[in-house]
Amino acid sequence: MKGEECMPGPEGGFPRDIESYMATKPPDLGDSCILFSRFGKCRYWVTCRFAGAHLGEGYQNVVNEELWQEWKGKSTVRNMLVNKGSGSLMLKNFFFRKSSDYLFCLKKASKAMKAATTKTTGTTTLKTVGVLTDEDLIRLRPCEKRKLDFQGKLYLSSLSNCGSLPFRRICKRFGADITCGEMFTCALSQNELPGITSSLHRHETEDLFGIQLQGTTPKQMVNYAELLNETAEVDFVDINAEYRGGCVLMNHLVEFEQIVRGMDYVLSVPVTAKIRTGIAKKCRIAHTLIPKLRDWGASMVTLHGRSREEMHQNLADWEYIGECAKVAAPMPLFGNGDIFSFEDATRAMETGVSGIAIARAALIKPWIFTEIKERRHWDISARERLDMLKDFTDFGLEYWGSDKIGVEKTRHYMLNWLPFLCRYIPVGLLEHLPPKMSDQHPGVLYGDYLENLMSSEMIKDWVKISEMFLGTVPDDYHFEPAHDVDAYFRQP
Ligand SMILES: Cc1cc2nc3c(=O)[nH]c(=O)nc-3n(C[C@H](O)[C@H](O)[C@H](O)COP(=O)(O)O)c2cc1C
Repeated sequence: MKGEECMPGPEGGFPRDIESYMATKPPDLGDSCILFSRFGKCRYWVTCRFAGAHLGEGYQNVVNEELWQEWKGKSTVRNMLVNKGSGSLMLKNFFFRKSSDYLFCLKKASKAMKAATTKTTGTTTLKTVGVLTDEDLIRLRPCEKRKLDFQGKLYLSSLSNCGSLPFRRICKRFGADITCGEMFTCALSQNELPGITSSLHRHETEDLFGIQLQGTTPKQMVNYAELLNETAEVDFVDINAEYRGGCVLMNHLVEFEQIVRGMDYVLSVPVTAKIRTGIAKKCRIAHTLIPKLRDWGASMVTLHGRSREEMHQNLADWEYIGECAKVAAPMPLFGNGDIFSFEDATRAMETGVSGIAIARAALIKPWIFTEIKERRHWDISARERLDMLKDFTDFGLEYWGSDKIGVEKTRHYMLNWLPFLCRYIPVGLLEHLPPKMSDQHPGVLYGDYLENLMSSEMIKDWVKISEMFLGTVPDDYHFEPAHDVDAYFRQP
């Protein structure tokens, strides 16, 4: 394809000329290619699964010059630069100037603290505040930050394995104000930035966009924060201290403080944190932790109103979230947990929080953001939900690619979303309003094939839905959902 001679492939491997490639290629999945119709050129040429839309005579890749001139060299996705793996972006080559400075001070403070506690006689000249010396605290003043206006905003929570860029585009269109890339686990053993690259990708419509980091050591978190600061365009960096491994921080406040202060020092954008009420149900610590987070440098905190022990069981305690909002002031506090209707959102805002974060409801009905903003219930038919999946498909192919790999990636994310989307119950079938996350679907509906299909909880039906947009899967196709979805809805 590059006009160079092909390397010999493995036996029975890739065909080495277009004729034989096309002869073995499965039929196209549709008549129009989203990349060609949107940008005027499809970069996947013959490998595109919709190639018929732009193949001319002799398999020439047809270009719509007028459209292509508009888009050439441009992208709707930002922060793509880190994908190129250029030397300066590799961790081993990157000069962590500010992080090294900070970590050096931490080491010094920890030595001083040890000396202060082990020496029973004599005095120590270094007064420490536990994580840093007073002197260093003054020296390591965080850089001036752009103030973000969080007030009254709707925040689409970071959603691992589900909150991909195409999904966030759907939510943005329905009115989400703040979006966040998929959580990234910092692990310094890596030489480059594999994995983090896609967490960073930001669609041009995401005007208030953050990235969520998870890690337990200041070294990991502060280094990655500095790397992000130098290479990506994000509006805030969130510390995950509530989901999966991130919760550990709530039990290790010294490290938590070191991480917040360090990230605040290296970042030129605000640092935020996501926490739970505490680890154990009976031992809430959020109300004491939140003022500390503010003093350490956090610009906003999201509080999920359940303890780690409760996981997603029991209802989020919004009264407690309201108490925490009071002690957080003037720092904004976002409340999170069980918001499923505009009535829930109104009640939540009345507790005094600055905004609300939404997770499961966005996966079940992404139009919740419109419902909240327009203060109404929006009954969306199965046909309309299917149209939304078509848009997701287009967004997915545009982002991941229209070749075989892109098609399968789009399918994979769609299949991770459908176990949530199928839980939507049309408003007309509800016995009461407002709807609740725990409402049960009345079961199979007579004569409504599409509604039955869209509400099916069977993997084979989710695959069938994906096949409506992305072609059939092989007989031995196997899909394992990334999440145990039932666990997110289990009643105590
Ligand atoms: C599929 C899924 C993935 C999630 N991934 C993350 C994540 O990566 N980071 C995070 O802080 N929370 C994550 N959460 C937790 C949610 O952000 C949220 O705190 C929790 O679901 C409660 O909010 P809700 O009642 O609106 O669902 C996830 C939740 C779900 C359902």
